[in-house]
Amino acid sequence: MVEIDPAFRADVLRGLAEPVPAIPARWLYDRRGSELFDEITRLPAYYPTRTETALLEQVMVDLPTYVAPGGAVVEFGAGAATKTPLLLAAVHPKAYVPIDISGEYLEASAAVVDADHARVAVHPVIGDFTQDVVLPSEIDGLDRLGFFPGSTIGNFVPKSAAALLGHFRDILGTGSKLLIGMDRIKPVDRLVAAYNDPEGVTAQFNLNLLERINRELDADIPVDAFAHEARWADMLGRIEMHLVAKRDVEFSVAGQQFAFAEGRSIHTENSHKYGQRGARLLLLAGGWTPITEWLAPHEAFVIILCEAHPDRFAP
Ligand code: AVI
Repeated sequence: MVEIDPAFRADVLRGLAEPVPAIPARWLYDRRGSELFDEITRLPAYYPTRTETALLEQVMVDLPTYVAPGGAVVEFGAGAATKTPLLLAAVHPKAYVPIDISGEYLEASAAVVDADHARVAVHPVIGDFTQDVVLPSEIDGLDRLGFFPGSTIGNFVPKSAAALLGHFRDILGTGSKLLIGMDRIKPVDRLVAAYNDPEGVTAQFNLNLLERINRELDADIPVDAFAHEARWADMLGRIEMHLVAKRDVEFSVAGQQFAFAEGRSIHTENSHKYGQRGARLLLLAGGWTPITEWLAPHEAFVIILCEAHPDRFAP
């Protein structure tokens, strides 16, 4: 059996016992989950990745007007860093700092960047960007541009999203800039289809969480007794992913018993979508002043450039 991660076990045991059962979305991303997510990004129904990538081409033409060359680009959750070469080619930084929890991903991203941008010094930081991060001293004194693409901010509830943006501000410092991708509110059928693709990849991605629990936490959840569901929660402006019991089930996880009646669900992810004002307001709540934004066709996605202005006295 795989070594037990105590934080995973604690989150699962607590989450399954909550009145509204829920497991934090970060546990969706084990090796299999990351592979499935990668597949999701290429699905016809999943518009965010290709829409943002296409929009970035346009952003990069304009960005030199706002960002001087010779600074440092800091990417939060670099992952495979597929969008990074575009950014580096546009802003010509002196240094690139990818931050990611996975050392494997970091090596891959550093290699991509090294090969294409020999003059950019790469200083990878292994770590969780939601926690304390120390930036390498090599970028001391350089202007900083944070990069947070992928609409990952949408996976945080607004209160946590504002706190995370504030945390980015603390890491980067006053005067820094942030380039962030956010998904927009759009017709519900399009939103739901993106999270419930006909190929069933998102369903596998969601159900893999139960398989992971079985693999890693000495559990016997009958995975076939649960169905993937994507719901639009209109008042909350978000797509929710759930795993819904198709029949009454009982199972154990790490020695604890659970019973789920038919129809009861485990909430596994939120993906918030924003309107024009909501997106800007969220950034302001996190201490970032929007400077300009680029909107994809049909207002499908937005990339916003913002700046950490010094705090001013205001009532
Ligand atoms: C990583 N994140 C931005 C994705 C999203 O769209 O919220 C995660 C995802 N979940 C299901 N499909 C994609």
